[in-house]
Amino acid sequence: MNGERGSVEMGRDGYLPLFETKVAKGRILYRCYAASVFVGIIFIWVYRVVHFPPAGAQLLRRWAWMGLFPSELLFSFYWFLTQLVRWSPIYRYTFKDRLSQRYEEVLPGIDIFVCTADPRIEPPIMVINTVLSVMAYNYPSQNLSVYLSDDGGSDLTFYALLEASRFSKHWLPFCRKFSIEPRSPAAYFSTTSEPPDSNPLMAQEWLSIKELYEDMKNRIETTTRLGRISEEIRKEHKGFLEWNSASTRHDHQSIVQIVIDGRDPKAVDSEGQPLPTLVYLSREKRPQYHHNFKAGAMNALIRVSSKISNGSIILNVDCDMYSNNSESVRDALCFFMDEEKGHEIAYVQFPQCYDNLTRNDLYGTCFRVIIQVELPGLDSNGGPFYIGTGCFHRRVALCGMKYDKECEREWKKENDRRGRESASVLEESCKVLASCTYEENSQWGKEMGVKYDCAVEDIITGFSIQCRGWKSVYVNPERKGFLGVAPTTLLQSLVQHKRWSEGHLQMFLSRHCPFIYGHKKVPLKLQLAYSIYNLWAAYSLAMLCYVAVPSLCLLGGISLFPEIWSLWVLPFAYVIIAKHAYSLGEFHWYGGTIQGWWNDQRIWMFRRTTSYFFAFLDTILRILGFAETTFAVTAKVCDEDVSQRYEQEIMEFGSPSPLFTISATLALLNLFSFVCGVKRVVVDIQIKPLESLVLQIILCGVLVLINLPVYQGLFFRKDKGTMPTSVTYKSVSLALLACSIALY
Ligand SMILES: *[C@@H]1O[C@H](CO)[C@@H](O)[C@H](O)[C@H]1NC(C)=O
Ligand SMILES: *[C@@H]1O[C@H](CO)[C@@H](O)[C@H](O)[C@H]1NC(C)=O
Repeated sequence: MNGERGSVEMGRDGYLPLFETKVAKGRILYRCYAASVFVGIIFIWVYRVVHFPPAGAQLLRRWAWMGLFPSELLFSFYWFLTQLVRWSPIYRYTFKDRLSQRYEEVLPGIDIFVCTADPRIEPPIMVINTVLSVMAYNYPSQNLSVYLSDDGGSDLTFYALLEASRFSKHWLPFCRKFSIEPRSPAAYFSTTSEPPDSNPLMAQEWLSIKELYEDMKNRIETTTRLGRISEEIRKEHKGFLEWNSASTRHDHQSIVQIVIDGRDPKAVDSEGQPLPTLVYLSREKRPQYHHNFKAGAMNALIRVSSKISNGSIILNVDCDMYSNNSESVRDALCFFMDEEKGHEIAYVQFPQCYDNLTRNDLYGTCFRVIIQVELPGLDSNGGPFYIGTGCFHRRVALCGMKYDKECEREWKKENDRRGRESASVLEESCKVLASCTYEENSQWGKEMGVKYDCAVEDIITGFSIQCRGWKSVYVNPERKGFLGVAPTTLLQSLVQHKRWSEGHLQMFLSRHCPFIYGHKKVPLKLQLAYSIYNLWAAYSLAMLCYVAVPSLCLLGGISLFPEIWSLWVLPFAYVIIAKHAYSLGEFHWYGGTIQGWWNDQRIWMFRRTTSYFFAFLDTILRILGFAETTFAVTAKVCDEDVSQRYEQEIMEFGSPSPLFTISATLALLNLFSFVCGVKRVVVDIQIKPLESLVLQIILCGVLVLINLPVYQGLFFRKDKGTMPTSVTYKSVSLALLACSIALY
């Protein structure tokens, strides 16, 4: 046993903690606000009950009422759940200097997993930038191992990784010497496009490193474009022998290549310092075996890494998420190694942030409020969920171990595990761990590792870790730990949400339902917090109802809200204004623009009426036995003109999709109703119906305003990103049909 255990014990009481937790301020004021909104909501319910249309009233009005009231109840429930996570959010801060003072000599091994799935959608040059950024962590290299899992089984990716391993010999010393940030070469050179003139020594090195990088990038991109590896390159490394003419993406043996063996004394950078271990893994694929998507890759990585480096902490990142902060490993260790609370923490989740965001974030990608308010709220309710990337795990917890007071694990020195085997022997012996049959009749994917059979496998994996008694923490440092590539079209964004909300609903309806699986294992408030997201898809019904029914009724002159001079208007007005004013304030407080908030409202409406609705339908159909799960990887590359429109914040429609048909139809419906409503006011001047329809006209007007980009896409734009003609025809006919039904 090493000396560290002793120091942990000694230090239990005497040492200052490695992290601190602060509770959000201003909660009393917030709770008063929440209570007042709640009173308003109760009055709305009372109104709905008291004014329920009597039996003799118009049939349509009764039906509409029966649609709106449950929708309002559902919205209230959602509101209640979101208050729960706002009740007392907590924020975590680390003390990295204390960590290095106490533990610099005995830092644990870290295994970093980078997952990629398809070289066409995730270009190899992007993947290796992520790999280089994590290889360059400010952390002792002999304790760092980086694994690239390539589910595309592509020699192009392998080739790029070889290039990266060569480049790292220059890149790592450069980062170290000049404390470069961020350490992804692409991100660094795009932010620093000139050599810094303050330091002539650095300027010289900067130029030569930049040239090396550009050369490498050109070679990789040329090869990627060609789509195959030339004979000369093939001869350079024995690893290429693993690919033969028969291998395809979906049918090949396991490939394990230790590209840099960190234990080899010859594996040093240009300054003679050791390099981190770098491993390429492509697990076996056979058409007759189900490969379980990313969860399957993660489990293969867990096994293979346990044989090669067996780091006690695992970090996993998606291949498009480079490290923007070379201190993140140390941030995470401050939690795991804290003498007082560290032993019960299973994972440390960093937020998913993006570097391709435009100023007003047209597609609401950055989840400002979720990242800054809701996740800290989850943390205080029992722990954030695991979101599948940017997360540090304790290996034993991820592997399925229960938390147990007695099992405070000592940090194992990894090297004693791996004997004296040479790299090539090790490569061979690891292959079986990544084979298709290895998991047959085992607990992998069930009680061990990442769980299978769910579109949000990461969420249920994290939840089951919490249910095994472990804690998790959320940390969101000022300088973001990981930055990914944001979706650049509306469709990508909506499809991503469809997958998430579908997975969440699937979780809710499965045995992993927070209330069943978590019963008596995690606090009720955590179960409730999970259901905020689990039920995303279900709220789509309420949203659809609220967007469509009042408009349709406006056409027919049917009033669904109180008359403008009645006192019943007050609760509606108060709840709506207070809620949105608060949401705007919250958004703005965390650095959003007002336009950004407006865009955020729009995208939430689109998500609820389209992505979540389809997710809901698909889930129900699957339960009834009609459809299969499919995984759509979102593309990380896009055309020049698409990027241009993205930069200009012009909404991108472009491809015909049923998602667009729904939102266009709803937008048109609102437009027709609004015009009709205004016409009643101006032309007919019938005072009586007007009074009772004012709220509906306002609601319709707001919906029309929020849908402006849709009308532009339907009728006014000429570029390639407009609404496809087929969608326009379909939505106009559908909207007209709905209107005529409502009118007669
Ligand atoms: C991300 O943004 C940068 C700079 O705005 C741009 O050069 C790059 O092409 C973008 N990437 C994608 C995938 O849109
Ligand atoms: C990423 O890192 C750079 C350089 O350290 C920093 O300037 C930038 O603010 C970081 N980005 C985010 C989103 O935190």
